[in-house]
Amino acid sequence: MTKQYKALKLANSELEAIEISNKFCDALITLQGGQILKFFSKKQNKDLLWLSDLAEYETGKAIRGGIPLCFPWFGGHPTNTNLPAHGFARNSLWQLTSINEDATGHHILLELNDSETTRLYWNYAFKLEMLIHCGEDLKLEFKLQNLDPQTFEFGFAWHSYFPTKTQNSQVLGLQNSSYIDQLDGNQIKTQTGEVIIFTAELDRIYPKTSGQFSIQQNEQDHIYIKSTAKSAVVWNPWIEKTKRLTDVRDDAWQDFICVEMGQVATEQVHLAAGQHVCYAVQISAVP
Ligand code: BG6
Repeated sequence: MTKQYKALKLANSELEAIEISNKFCDALITLQGGQILKFFSKKQNKDLLWLSDLAEYETGKAIRGGIPLCFPWFGGHPTNTNLPAHGFARNSLWQLTSINEDATGHHILLELNDSETTRLYWNYAFKLEMLIHCGEDLKLEFKLQNLDPQTFEFGFAWHSYFPTKTQNSQVLGLQNSSYIDQLDGNQIKTQTGEVIIFTAELDRIYPKTSGQFSIQQNEQDHIYIKSTAKSAVVWNPWIEKTKRLTDVRDDAWQDFICVEMGQVATEQVHLAAGQHVCYAVQISAVP
């Protein structure tokens, strides 16, 4: 089958992106960060990801929206606050390894390897691949190989931004899970209610979950997430924090929530020399 994609520069910037269009979806992926910025489901006539209309497209700067990848750590670096928040993968230039199209859609393989720059932040040899399947659903696979002589420890998260009316939204699937409340001195709490609703800034890390969640805006409007990675992070910056984000409109907190999937906090992974590990996530508008 012929490859149908377009390489382009993003919004008058130097950043390169790939535009995908097939019978199932339209998608946009940027090589910086290996980041999917847009996924529009044609069947559901719906965007499954949110992208800030003030997003800044600059070399070395994370783009606000879509699914930036936090790796090899989530949040601030545990010992050195000068290192970039959420690691370096979202600010690094990935290589496009292949694009194939079959009856199920496009398969895009991206790769990030250690380099002199990554070693300044994290002194290990590795190969990280991200396989993005743009079909009826959006599927992402994260495959990490340890090419170093030593074991290393890493955390990661698909920092997904979902388009939803925050104040009408509920997140399901986290009942009875323990979470770290990042807005209350990192206290460990347990979620008792069946759903999370948004009435103020919210920033919670759920280290261990079932990996299955949904976001419901109303009876018809759902997004389903199935992940083999077991941690989740739920975030909305609300009013005051949004004002401090230069790449988000002041009122945009009403239009998105982040439900992030990965392995973080107590669920960070030790990977021995020569070993590899894989995680996958599926995001869809139907169960
Ligand atoms: C979330 C964190 O994952 O990302 C929040 O839990 C953080 O604490 C948010 O504010 C956004 O981070 P950044 O670095 O993209 O502005």
